[in-house]
Amino acid sequence: MTKKILRALAGETLETPPIWMMRQAGRYLPEYRATRAQAGDFLSLCYNSELAAEVTLQPIRRYGFDAAILFADILLLPQALGVDLWFETGEGPRMSTTTTQAEFDQLRSVSDIHETLNPIYETVRILRRELPQETTLIGFAGAPWTVATYMIAGRGTKDQGPAHALKAENRAVFSQIIDLLTQSTIEYLAAQIDAGAEVVKIFDSWAGSLTGQDFHDFALEPARKITAAIKSRYPTVPVIAFPREAKENYIGFAKATGADCVAIDNSVSAEWVAQNVQVDGCVQGNLASSHMVTGGQALVDETRRIVRALSNGPHIFNLGHGITPDADPDNVQIMIDTVREGSAV
Ligand code: CP3
Repeated sequence: MTKKILRALAGETLETPPIWMMRQAGRYLPEYRATRAQAGDFLSLCYNSELAAEVTLQPIRRYGFDAAILFADILLLPQALGVDLWFETGEGPRMSTTTTQAEFDQLRSVSDIHETLNPIYETVRILRRELPQETTLIGFAGAPWTVATYMIAGRGTKDQGPAHALKAENRAVFSQIIDLLTQSTIEYLAAQIDAGAEVVKIFDSWAGSLTGQDFHDFALEPARKITAAIKSRYPTVPVIAFPREAKENYIGFAKATGADCVAIDNSVSAEWVAQNVQVDGCVQGNLASSHMVTGGQALVDETRRIVRALSNGPHIFNLGHGITPDADPDNVQIMIDTVREGSAV
């Protein structure tokens, strides 16, 4: 097993941490914008296997990241369950809402999802053929809670208010949504692995708005069930969990869910992560993505600080959240050079 990402995920402390970046294929890259224009719009790009593979490969060619992440979106799964999905320019995703038993009953069943998602599996197959042999291919899905927040509100929300309201007012429908998403996420990730994904990541971008028992029931438990199902079918495939902004709930998350690695946002310090989370295994993170916009000495200093703080255990260098469209592509190269400075690779 020579791929650096797989070694780190297996618990090895490497001299230089492997690197990839959330949203590494994205609008900050001129070549991405050109391919997206060729596809027509974002969703057409996701479902065009050749072009989706092309944009996945673009940051690998430009920067030589240690991992490629499948180009797709967490909201394709609810779309495959029958939800209407579209993107409003400059505003983000919009969906038909699911908040009543009647609306829930209209959704398709787990076994129907592949009909819509087949082009995504084809993207994975193309990537396994075309990626350099040292590059790890990461598949992904949204976590049930995060995907549910979009299905319930019909859009992105600052405080996930509509999902919290449904959880309080109609627990039966809310729980059915979480359970359907949990089961379909297992099948979606399994199909990505069958097509060639070597690692899978579960994005729980809104985990931080769950506290106490709710965090346990709707962030931790679904991640545990998904991880257990994946591990029972594919014992050697590593799972990365990203309960974003979980704060103190990051502690013990890997042990409780069975995940091989916890991805960490930048609301906690790398020193805290080393003491509290990395003690249980591999961590990924956690440079603030704003440094990709502002650059300069602060970018170099902060990158060095994170590498140093996490150098005594398994670590995959990454941002705390996705790179933004206003980032300067040159700053990405500076980050990579800083992480790899002094190493032979
Ligand atoms: O990381 C990668 O490069 C892989 C591809 C990927 C995308 N979205 C592509 C994308 C992944 C892993 C995601 C995950 C995703 N999608 C999440 C979880 C991670 C996170 O960012 O918190 C969420 C919440 C979504 C839902 C989503 N998709 C939103 C809210 C938006 C609009 C916001 C924005 O940045 O415009 C998207 C669109 C989206 N997904 C883009 C990309 C590259 C931008 C689309 C474009 O080209 O216009």
